[in-house]
Amino acid sequence: MANEYDNPKFFEQYSQMSRSKQGLEAAGEWRQLKKLFPDVSGGSVLDLGCGYGWHCRYAVERGAVRVLGLDISEKMLSEAKSSEGETVAYRLCGIENYEYPGEEWDLVVSNLALHYIEDLGAVYRKVFKTLRPGGVFLFNIEHPVFTAGVGQDWVYAPDGSPLYWPVDGYFTTGERVTNFLGCKVKKQHHTLTQILNGLISCGFVITAVEEAQPSEDMLSQPGMSDELRRPMMLLVRAEKR
Ligand SMILES: C[S@@+](CC[C@H](N)C(=O)[O-])C[C@H]1O[C@@H](n2cnc3c(N)ncnc32)[C@H](O)[C@@H]1O
Repeated sequence: MANEYDNPKFFEQYSQMSRSKQGLEAAGEWRQLKKLFPDVSGGSVLDLGCGYGWHCRYAVERGAVRVLGLDISEKMLSEAKSSEGETVAYRLCGIENYEYPGEEWDLVVSNLALHYIEDLGAVYRKVFKTLRPGGVFLFNIEHPVFTAGVGQDWVYAPDGSPLYWPVDGYFTTGERVTNFLGCKVKKQHHTLTQILNGLISCGFVITAVEEAQPSEDMLSQPGMSDELRRPMMLLVRAEKR
């Protein structure tokens, strides 16, 4: 299955999301992720699956002096490119395929991209290698309770209102084909053990784990409440000490 982010229909839908129009402040997880963002002033930042480049630009605002955003979607990168300059570069490159030079980056950040990765452990090992001592790996991945269900959808009442979110097949890891923004999108389900223990077995020290809970303000916006009341996202901060 091709990368849906380059499918014109999917990309058009994605570009209509509030996070695409308004940026980080409109993203349900940002209120929590922002607090976990380390001091990057004078430092270097690698963004895995950077999309429009919001986190790259934020790193620059926070004083980073070298930022690289990687993504496999030309369409997403074309949105990011307007902010390319002396400090920020973007590269069309898979998270799995980047060369991860040893001790190169102070922060590796990844927002909502790692659930597209089949071999999460392999990426963790490369990230550990490419971080400088004291460096931070901060990511937000779709929550395993969200990715587990084969259909990844609510169970609905006869009147069409969502009844509950089923968690099934939890220990069957790997590929899920789900309906996202009206398109079929291939994602990878990883258990909580894989997500957290995978970091520990590489040598990372986990310093924060949070489940995204958007603010009441955001939840009260039309069309948002059902979508965001699921455990959708898991935020993790790990350090290479
Ligand atoms: C939900 S978007 C998030 C974009 C950005 N991180 C943000 O938070 O605004 C997921 C991004 O991951 C990218 N992506 C998916 N699989 C990837 C892979 N294997 N390597 C690099 N990028 C990937 C997609 O092209 C897309 O831009």
